[in-house]
Amino acid sequence: MHCTRNILDDLIWVGADDRRLVCFEGVYACPAGVSYNSYLLLDEKTVLMDTVDKAVGPQFFENLAHALNGRKLDYLVIHHMEPDHAATAEELVLRYPEVKIICNAKSQGLLEQFFSPELAARCELVKEGESRCFGRHTLSFIMAPMVHWPEVMMSYDSESKALFSADAFGTFGALNGRLFADETDFFTEDLDEARRYYTNIVGKYGMQVVAALKKAAKLDIALVCPLHGYVWRRDFDKFVEKYQLWATYTPEEKSVMIAYASVYGHTEQAANLLACKLVERGVRVRMFDTSVVHASTIISESFRAGALVFASTTYNMGVFVTMENLLHDLVAHNLQNRTVALIENGSWSPVSGKLMREILAPLKNTTILDQTVTLKSALKPSQEAELDALADALKAVLA
Ligand code: FEO
Repeated sequence: MHCTRNILDDLIWVGADDRRLVCFEGVYACPAGVSYNSYLLLDEKTVLMDTVDKAVGPQFFENLAHALNGRKLDYLVIHHMEPDHAATAEELVLRYPEVKIICNAKSQGLLEQFFSPELAARCELVKEGESRCFGRHTLSFIMAPMVHWPEVMMSYDSESKALFSADAFGTFGALNGRLFADETDFFTEDLDEARRYYTNIVGKYGMQVVAALKKAAKLDIALVCPLHGYVWRRDFDKFVEKYQLWATYTPEEKSVMIAYASVYGHTEQAANLLACKLVERGVRVRMFDTSVVHASTIISESFRAGALVFASTTYNMGVFVTMENLLHDLVAHNLQNRTVALIENGSWSPVSGKLMREILAPLKNTTILDQTVTLKSALKPSQEAELDALADALKAVLA
């Protein structure tokens, strides 16, 4: 049975939700699922915007057949070749053998790598600024390299004023029947997952996202159709404001994110006391245990906060494994413009502070405070003044 939604009379969402996905891209926990969006334009020609992940292929093909209502499929536009959108392209061609593929040269190369020269041979290539007319609707193509892969492009329909934005403006979370962002309380209920999606999937490529936002700013946009998450038809400017912050590594809040790795609770105790001292000073704090909370959530919260605290026990003469993984991931995601404070613990040879400082050294325009607080097994009453000083320093940098 089909499950589709109309965006316009001649533009139909034919994607599907996956609520059984444990790890998106094999890494990112997806407790609320994810949607793979695909859009069918019914003009003089029929045009499909991207396919879906294999996991939801059966539902997608039912949706597509229903929306086509007996018409043949003329074109597939590939905006992004990552398999969560292109994995079913080969099956699409088997089912609709007359379909032609519109994509750029980089996507054609990836089609051949993932599938076959035969699939690549049916491509009609487009470049930046080129257009294709399908009847009433004309799509113009906008290259958006590294948002999130090098071949990514967007397209703009001058008739409906719809921007097909590929991964940009997506979010984690199944749609659950709600297609438009205004059908949910997005900025209350969904923004955290949108931030986690952005920061982990394209957070590394802020400069390229800024370039894509500049291109999009020149367009008269009435609809934004991303490959994951909601379609935007109102309040899109509020979402763009968030993207401007995230893409420029600008904190959303004057808050502190505390992440700690603690085996027997002593490092956690110091982190808790620092949190109390910060809150007493009027600073908003969010805390995470790296052994319990997935790194993707802590990375997302690190993009949100202005200052970061990492507290870790020493383990096997290194940083505790979950903290070490988090810090490397944070560096890989290119976070910038932050102030960082460190707390280390070690019963006989505390070295985690020095090692955390080394891992975080590549972060651009980031200050790691000199005053690492060192615990030998447990925080002593005589050390409370050190946490007071750290809280004062963090409050000062956020002022
Ligand atoms: Fe949703 Fe980069 O793929």
